[in-house]
Amino acid sequence: MTLREALVLTRQTLAAATSDEADIESELLLCYVLGISKTKLYSEPGRVLTPTEIKELQCSVNRRLLREPIDYILGNCDFYGHDFYVDHRVFIPRPETELLVEKAIDFAHYHNTSQNQFILADIGTGSGVIAISLALALPKARIYAIDIAASALHVAHLNCQRHHVTHQVTLLQGNLLEPLPEPTNVIIANLPYVKDHEMRTLTPEIIDFEPTVALAGGKDGLDIIRQLLIQVPGKIHPNGCLLLEIGYGQDKAINSLINSCFPQANIKLVPDLSGINRIAKILL
Ligand SMILES: C[S@@+](CC[C@H](N)C(=O)[O-])C[C@H]1O[C@@H](n2cnc3c(N)ncnc32)[C@H](O)[C@@H]1O
Repeated sequence: MTLREALVLTRQTLAAATSDEADIESELLLCYVLGISKTKLYSEPGRVLTPTEIKELQCSVNRRLLREPIDYILGNCDFYGHDFYVDHRVFIPRPETELLVEKAIDFAHYHNTSQNQFILADIGTGSGVIAISLALALPKARIYAIDIAASALHVAHLNCQRHHVTHQVTLLQGNLLEPLPEPTNVIIANLPYVKDHEMRTLTPEIIDFEPTVALAGGKDGLDIIRQLLIQVPGKIHPNGCLLLEIGYGQDKAINSLINSCFPQANIKLVPDLSGINRIAKILL
C-alpha cells in the first residue's frame, strides 16, 4: 500500500464511521504512525508502507473507530502554542481555556509592580497546561498546581519536565485550595462544571475516555466551584484576582454565587470567541 492509498483509505474509514474531521485526523494519524511531517506526507505519495507500518496504522484507526479521542492516540495536544503530553489520566485541554491563561498573564503584567514575587495557583491542574503556560510566559513567577487526582499529577510532572519548569511549578495533591501553603496573587481554576443531566448527553469521546472527576460538577454544575469559593478567604492576597472557567449558561448563577460569597468583589464576565461567557474574573 502506498502513502496516497493509505491516506485515502484512512480518510474514508474515519469519515464513514465517526469523525467530522476525517481529513485532518487521517493526516495526523499517518504522520504519527510513520513519524513524518505533513510536508513529507504529500511529497512522497508513492512511498510504500512496510507491513509493520500498516499494522500500526490499522491499530490507531481502530482506536479512533472505538471513539478514543485523537489526542490520546497521538499522546499529544497543543495548548497556548506549546506541545503537551496527554493520556487517559487527564482531561484534554480545550482551546477556550487559553482565555483563562491570557487573562491571568494580563493581570500579572498590570499588577506585578511590587518587588515581591508574583504567586499564582492553578486549581484542578490536570495535565498542567495552565500552570506551565503561565510559567513560560511569566518566568519570574512561582506557580502552585493542585489536583485531587495523583494520576493527573504524574502527567503534569512529565509536562513540567518537558518544558523545563520544575523549578517554577510546585505540584500538590489535594482538595482544591487545602494544600496551598501560602496566599497567592492569582487563583485560576478550570474545575469540572458539567451538570448531572448534561453528563448523559456527552459524546462517547468524552464520557467513555476522559476522567469523570474532570467533568462532573453536580446538579447545577457548580458544586466544586461553590466549595472552592468557600475556601478562598486567606488563600489570596488583598487586591488579588480569581479567574474561573464556567460552562454555557452558568453566567447568571456564578454571578449571584460570587456576590453572595464576596459582596465587595468586582465581577467581570469574559466571553469566548463564540460569544459565550466563559470566564468569571473576580477582583477581590
Ligand atoms: C476540567 S479538568 C481541567 C484540567 C486542566 N486544568 C485543563 O484546563 O485542561 C478539571 C480538573 O480538576 C480536577 N479536580 C476535580 N475535583 C477537584 C478537587 N476537589 N480538587 C482539586 N482538583 C480537582 C480533576 O482531577 C481535573 O484534572
